[in-house]
Amino acid sequence: MPRSIIAGIGMYVPQNVFTNYDMMKYMDTSDEWIQERTGIKERRFAHRTNETTATMGIEAAKIAIERAGITEQDIDFIIFATLSPDYYFPGCGVLVQRALKMKEIGALDVRNQCSGFLYALSVGDQFIKSGMYKNILVIGSEKHSFAIDFNTRSRNISVIFGDGAGAVVLQPTKDNNRGILSTHLHSDGNDAEILALYNPGTHANYWKKGLADYEDAEVGGLYENHTMIDKGQNFPFMDGPTVFKKAIIKFPEVIMEALNQNGYKSSDIKMLIPHQANLRISKFVQEKLKLNDDQVYNNIDKYGNTTAASIPIALCEAWQYGKIKESDLVCLAAFGSGFTWASALMKW
Ligand code: ACO
Repeated sequence: MPRSIIAGIGMYVPQNVFTNYDMMKYMDTSDEWIQERTGIKERRFAHRTNETTATMGIEAAKIAIERAGITEQDIDFIIFATLSPDYYFPGCGVLVQRALKMKEIGALDVRNQCSGFLYALSVGDQFIKSGMYKNILVIGSEKHSFAIDFNTRSRNISVIFGDGAGAVVLQPTKDNNRGILSTHLHSDGNDAEILALYNPGTHANYWKKGLADYEDAEVGGLYENHTMIDKGQNFPFMDGPTVFKKAIIKFPEVIMEALNQNGYKSSDIKMLIPHQANLRISKFVQEKLKLNDDQVYNNIDKYGNTTAASIPIALCEAWQYGKIKESDLVCLAAFGSGFTWASALMKW
């Protein structure tokens, strides 16, 4: 059975740099608080009208396709991971297919938030291993800035997120010393509402949980209404401490699962690319696995948390800086809303 390799990788971040000091113009926060609790100094925000989740993904995809030495016409499947799609429906995959004038290939959208890219990578890996496709484009992209509540009431979450995109092209290889060795996907829906954007949504039966205010009407009004908007219930909610506690357990667990399955120890990792949730989480994982600074790549200070885009952006940067070379053992790991968490172990 062939393995999948990342034959090309690309990233795109908007030009507009939005610092913690810029954030302070909109809410009661400080550079010191944000840096100390999250490690973030600045993030990128997409142009309000000219850049979208799909357009950023397309820019990253063009680079990945060129680096894979193929053309858009060679791509035979698209997988697009995002929680901030251009439209509620259809998904972003078809927008990529259209913009890049690709053949009438399949396009799948993945809604798994911070672990979205790894879920997408895992799906792509299975299609490559089965022989169904030969050039799969996997994209992670987010335009968080469209749904950030620039208001002190949401400051614990608003300061965390940034915009950007990353993309890879997966191809089959018969080289035993390269490729994705395994992927590991998990979920626990008990805490689904701990980190979530409730509205617009169809969760009418949950109204007693206080997730939204419904107007007393016979029809309509259950999806999104003025009361919800007035109360800011159309912005993301996060119970940060609960996310933190679960993340620092599940990150090391899913990394060890990948290492154990393939007979490796944490010291064998050449580069760990954790989802850039929060620098404190990454540092905790690093300490727990006894990894040195050279074995972990973090760039949350520059880009914030870009959710489905954070792993491909960090992986792309690490590779561009020469920190990852052919056949190096690379581990990708993520944890996020759902909760869902995942890892992928590969020989680059
Ligand atoms: N600026 C200043 N003060 C703030 C801010 C802010 N941006 N946000 C919260 N505070 C205040 C709160 O109001 C509170 O004040 P109080 O004690 O007077 O009431 C105090 O700081 C502590 O608030 P908490 O919400 O308990 O903040 P905490 O210390 O837990 O830090 C944080 C918040 C950074 C989000 C933390 O919970 C955390 O790291 N959680 C992990 C979640 C995470 O990283 N999520 C990323 C997205 S999900 C993912 O990618 C996995």
